[in-house]
Amino acid sequence: MAKEEQWQSRAGFILAVIGSAVGLGNIWRFSYVAYDNGGGAFLIPYFIALVMIGIPILILEFSFGRKMRGSAALSFRKLAKKWEWLGWWPTLATLVLVIYYMAIIGWSLNYVFYSFGQVWGKNPEAFFYNQHLNLTSSVGQLGGINWTVFAAVFVIWIINYAIIYNGIENGIEKASKIFMPLLAILMLVITIRGITLPGAIEGINKYLQPDFSQLMNGEVWLAAFSQIFFTLSIGWGVMITYSSYQPEDSDIVNNAFIASLANCGFSFIVGLGVFSILGYMATQTGQPIEGLVAESIGLAFIAFPKAINMLPAFQTAFGSLFFISLVIAGLSSSISMIEATVANIQDKFAISRKKAASIVCLTSCLGSVLFTTGAGLYLLDIIDHFLMQFGAGLAAIFFCLVLGWGYGAQRLRKFMNQVSDFEIGVWWEIMIKLITPGILIIMFGKGVIANLT
Ligand code: PHE
Ligand code: NA
Repeated sequence: MAKEEQWQSRAGFILAVIGSAVGLGNIWRFSYVAYDNGGGAFLIPYFIALVMIGIPILILEFSFGRKMRGSAALSFRKLAKKWEWLGWWPTLATLVLVIYYMAIIGWSLNYVFYSFGQVWGKNPEAFFYNQHLNLTSSVGQLGGINWTVFAAVFVIWIINYAIIYNGIENGIEKASKIFMPLLAILMLVITIRGITLPGAIEGINKYLQPDFSQLMNGEVWLAAFSQIFFTLSIGWGVMITYSSYQPEDSDIVNNAFIASLANCGFSFIVGLGVFSILGYMATQTGQPIEGLVAESIGLAFIAFPKAINMLPAFQTAFGSLFFISLVIAGLSSSISMIEATVANIQDKFAISRKKAASIVCLTSCLGSVLFTTGAGLYLLDIIDHFLMQFGAGLAAIFFCLVLGWGYGAQRLRKFMNQVSDFEIGVWWEIMIKLITPGILIIMFGKGVIANLT
């Protein structure tokens, strides 16, 4: 049974998947998480998490969505009525995620404009907290709505709505075909500018030099695993949904490898650019790289403006290009989050895409208002932490166990091997049934303990 809506080409599907994967996570989140966790030391657990968790689960979501041809909830309902909730739960997490993810895209849009003439002035840190966010002194104090942020977030919602409204082929696929090449070019320009700055090499050293002692640090591992869930968009039901729109005989395994390598390659390259710029700042200010960024979340919105202030030329151009690339990366991810929610609602209540899109966009847009208040940053920080663990992390454990043992990893593997460019070995079954969930359960327990203490 074919779905009414389908990707028109394999490239369209891959670009949409990469669009979902490559996002604020690769530029904003990856850089600061790597920075916080010892730079080069972080890349080792990151790579291990990619191989042990990321790729096996991406393949799992692709094969399940393609086999069941439904949104996450419908796919699990087709498996058995009692598992339907396993589709709704990550979808709910995705919906919460998109509500604040939009706020960060909104900030990025604000900063595109702030780049003209460097509105942030001599003290980008004070500007970010006091002027841009109007940060209140505690979570309990909402403060007022920040109208500049609100306007930006609203614009981003409208763009998302317009794309989703037009459907898979005319909306998401078309947008991805424009966004992704554009983003690749922009990031290349920024990275080349970064690595040709004086002092870049010191930053790159910091980035690439593995500090093996950090490998004994559980926090670093936890950060790497969370980052993989975030960056590959796995554990959210998003990839199940995207894959459900694939035509009958489309490849699964190869597409999963292409998408995950493209995503992580992108992060790696952006990381080179970001650390080069940190290295440049260190040389300019005479401070060590470690002390440059006090607040991790502010890496993109504080350290970057600082770096832009120091650039010898083209400050406005460089700044606006950087923040435009954040906007584009964010947009192509947010559409996947909304699509996952819309598809679930469409499947459940048998309403049209346009209706489902209108309901989801209108209500979540209202939710985003909360993050345009003076307490937005606090709320975002708390929820982000919670979602990664109890949303994607926990859902992924269930995905592995329910699909691996309940439905049968061997059945999924057999199914994939009929359509994929290359056959996937029995190793994948072992991963999905034992190793991947085993590691995740340990990490999950560690995370809970870390939260309690
Ligand atoms: N992968 C996206 C990023 O790196 C975020 C995302 C998470 C997208 C979950 C969809 C689902 O920014
Ligand atoms: Na990503």
